[in-house]
Amino acid sequence: MVLRSCLLGSIAADQLQGTCRAPLVNCANTPSKYRHYHILQSAPNSVEKSNMDAPKEIFLKDYKLPNYYFDTVDLSFSLSEEKTTVSAKISVVPRVDGAASPLVLDGVDLKLISVKVNGNELKEGEFYLDLRHLVLTSPPSGNFILETVTEILPHKNTSLEGLYKSCGIFCTQCEAEGFRKITFYQDRPDIMAKYTCRIEADKSLYPVLLSNGNLIEKGDLQGGKHFACWEDPFKKPCYLFALVAGQLESRDDNFTTSSGRKVALKIWTPPQDLPKTEHAMYSLKAAMKWDEDVFGREYDLDIFNIVSVPDGNLGAMENKSLNIFNSNLVLASPETATDADYASILGVIGHEVSLSSNACRVTCRDWFQLSLKEGLTVFRDQEFSSDMGSRTVKRIGDVSKLRTYQFSQDAGPMAHPVRPHSYIKVQTHSCVCLVYQKGAEVVRMYKTLLGSQGFRKGMDLYFQRHDGQAVTCEDFFAAMRDANHADFTNFLLWYSQAGTPIVKVTSSYNAEARTFSLKFSQTVPPTPGQPVKEPMLIPVAAGLIDSSGKDMPLSSIFHDGKLEHVAYGDQPVYTTVLRVTKGEEEFIFSDVPQKPIPSLLRGYSAPIYLQSDLTDDDLFFLLAHDSDEFNCWEACQILGRKLMLSQVVNFQKRNALVLDPLFVHGIKCILLDLSLDKEFIAKAITLPGEGEIMDMMEVADPDAVHAVRKFITKQLAFELKQEFLNLVKENRSSEKYVFDHTNMARRALKNTALGYLASLEDEEITELLLHEYKTATNMTDQFAALVAISQKPGKARDDALADFYNQWQHDNLVVNKWLALQSSSDIPGNVENVYKLLSHEAFDLKNPNKVQSLIKGFCASPVNFHAKDGSGYKFLGEIVVQLDKLNPQMASHMVSAFSRWKRYDETRQNLAKAQLEMIVSGKDGFSENVYEIASKSLAV
Ligand code: BES
Repeated sequence: MVLRSCLLGSIAADQLQGTCRAPLVNCANTPSKYRHYHILQSAPNSVEKSNMDAPKEIFLKDYKLPNYYFDTVDLSFSLSEEKTTVSAKISVVPRVDGAASPLVLDGVDLKLISVKVNGNELKEGEFYLDLRHLVLTSPPSGNFILETVTEILPHKNTSLEGLYKSCGIFCTQCEAEGFRKITFYQDRPDIMAKYTCRIEADKSLYPVLLSNGNLIEKGDLQGGKHFACWEDPFKKPCYLFALVAGQLESRDDNFTTSSGRKVALKIWTPPQDLPKTEHAMYSLKAAMKWDEDVFGREYDLDIFNIVSVPDGNLGAMENKSLNIFNSNLVLASPETATDADYASILGVIGHEVSLSSNACRVTCRDWFQLSLKEGLTVFRDQEFSSDMGSRTVKRIGDVSKLRTYQFSQDAGPMAHPVRPHSYIKVQTHSCVCLVYQKGAEVVRMYKTLLGSQGFRKGMDLYFQRHDGQAVTCEDFFAAMRDANHADFTNFLLWYSQAGTPIVKVTSSYNAEARTFSLKFSQTVPPTPGQPVKEPMLIPVAAGLIDSSGKDMPLSSIFHDGKLEHVAYGDQPVYTTVLRVTKGEEEFIFSDVPQKPIPSLLRGYSAPIYLQSDLTDDDLFFLLAHDSDEFNCWEACQILGRKLMLSQVVNFQKRNALVLDPLFVHGIKCILLDLSLDKEFIAKAITLPGEGEIMDMMEVADPDAVHAVRKFITKQLAFELKQEFLNLVKENRSSEKYVFDHTNMARRALKNTALGYLASLEDEEITELLLHEYKTATNMTDQFAALVAISQKPGKARDDALADFYNQWQHDNLVVNKWLALQSSSDIPGNVENVYKLLSHEAFDLKNPNKVQSLIKGFCASPVNFHAKDGSGYKFLGEIVVQLDKLNPQMASHMVSAFSRWKRYDETRQNLAKAQLEMIVSGKDGFSENVYEIASKSLAV
């Protein structure tokens, strides 16, 4: 999966604080740093304004049930170029009959036109407005009807939350708290109601009008306008509301559910993009089928719309029956999209389909529980992609991502548990990996502990118990436990403890007793606000390998004073799951006829750091023999990490760098092993990333790590040049592009080999790269050749980059790749080039995809972003300040690149800190999103 990392909505600090009235002071006298909150215009005669409270931390423990529920919500939108009028009619039901308390509605950037209760306009004193709320001071004690009319300005909405315009298309983004930018509402996920939506707009500019559910009426109106009415038969939280209006066309297909219901499938894009939706439609059908086959979940409406929009902070959003996707996760053709793009589209569609059939029915009680739906769904989309391609390769990719992003967050100032205890803005971007990726690992651990059938039983019970409800992570845990009568002692800690556990293992063999012992110790490192941690339940999948390289059958294990049988009946068992639950404990395998090599944490059965006493010889052995392919790769990675770290020491001592011949031999064996999957080979010969190595150092040294990785790459290319050349030759194909595992694997191996060769100073190789670039028949091959050519500065690079731009300047998504390729380059002093690109016609600070490509791309080059002269930090500091005025979510995402500044040497620390201080002392103010990350980063 991902693809595009997720940018999540902002949560105001008042979400969970019941209905307390904010202190009222005159706003005009209050210097406000937090300028992103304001009402456009106050309602006449009825306004009191509260001060802008400093950003507040809110706590999970303070959750309160709402005092009012909403039963039905009828919305009516009149869209136009200047302003949009939103009328809302809500039937309100007090939670406790007769207990009248103020009704607090969230609202940001709204102009209130009128407010009525049971048909009567409210008078002064019956309501007030502050900067974030409309408060009905004494509503009726029983059920009542609330009607509001508000005006909003979608064309001025650059935050891309709420209703905004993307290249002429009206569209919405309501998760997490965008709905409050559309109308006054209790904007929290535990308010679930049935919606209707009437949309009225100019017919020629907006011929297509879409919302959730089924179309129940449409027709023409006077003045060239038309309307459409939509009704969603299911209750939903407001974050799943969506509206789209624009000049769109659809690719149509259908899907028949297992119970025989026909669902119309429509993928909407601007007309010119329609040909690029074939793969998305294929993915949609595959995902719906998979969800039914594996989880028995059937889609519950008669229509499934996907709309592709070019501007959005997110990758994709699962609004009920009206998914909205960033165009880079829908549009693909062989000429313009790479294999990675195709895989991303498949995975993200799998993700949103899964949410559509599950999380749209059982949702989160509050935003602390985000992992309940997103962690579960990431797990499911990972499984879907595994079943559609290679399971091992998918797992390797996911674990690499986990190590690169999640581990480093879990060790930094933004570390928090999968379910945070508190936040200012939940889901400012930096938290996402923990909630999503680590959340998915937690779900995977249930499956590892319970097996496939047990996990399915747990899922079934979860839906049986909670359909139509807004629930918590404990509810999910309880369903898994109860459906299996399982002992999950210490498991809930995965939701509440931050930090990556460190598990140490030592092994010993007793030849006389024929036993093999594994002694485990676990610690969870301290994280901000959590100095002391408890041991957790960690499932460690393990097998034993004999001297001939075969898995040994496992019989029984002595543990905790008991002998536990592993094998029952005739079926031999080669992998068992050890339940590590204590600070220290021992597992003793019986009937082990010879000293084995243990294969531990097979398939990466828990998101931990494992430190074992395996020697290099053992690792080379595992690399060659482990039946668990993931662990073959892991052995290679551990050897790579050790090698890189040893050479970093050499570099720092100014000693010559050396490459262990055994490592070269190991890589060569993999390259030549015809039995291995080609994509697996490509992954196995790829060295650990620079970030991963820096994370293992006391003081991160980007220059040393970069130099070492470059050295090893070049040395391997030099020593294995012929093998790499053969791979390029053997894996070329002039045949039509096919998106399947065999072809993707072939391309991956060829292009990885090309990448190695490009590190050599060699005319003949430059010719080869240019040849590959020119003869490529698809974007995967063309772009891989361009990446290889652009490794080294010079004419070949400049010409190729110019040629690529000329060829593709009309295609935004391809141009974004071109931007990212240049900005992420490790070429010394690249910041200058990135400054130039800021004013290139292809760049636009308002478009999040461009920002991701250029700015985030730049931060992905440690040598340039962490340049010792501070030029990279200065660049980012300047951008964050500008971007925060346009799009706080994006700005907070970018500022998180600073968060681990303490990991570097003193010079770098001072330079990065100065930028963070500059950002939070901004004269024009800054958003809460940026404030949360910058201030937490400074506080460490
Ligand atoms: N529902 C989320 C988007 C979201 C979550 C928005 C929380 C605001 C707050 C959606 O399912 C999602 O996660 N989209 C991802 C892609 C996904 C495959 C990880 C994204 O937009 O990047």
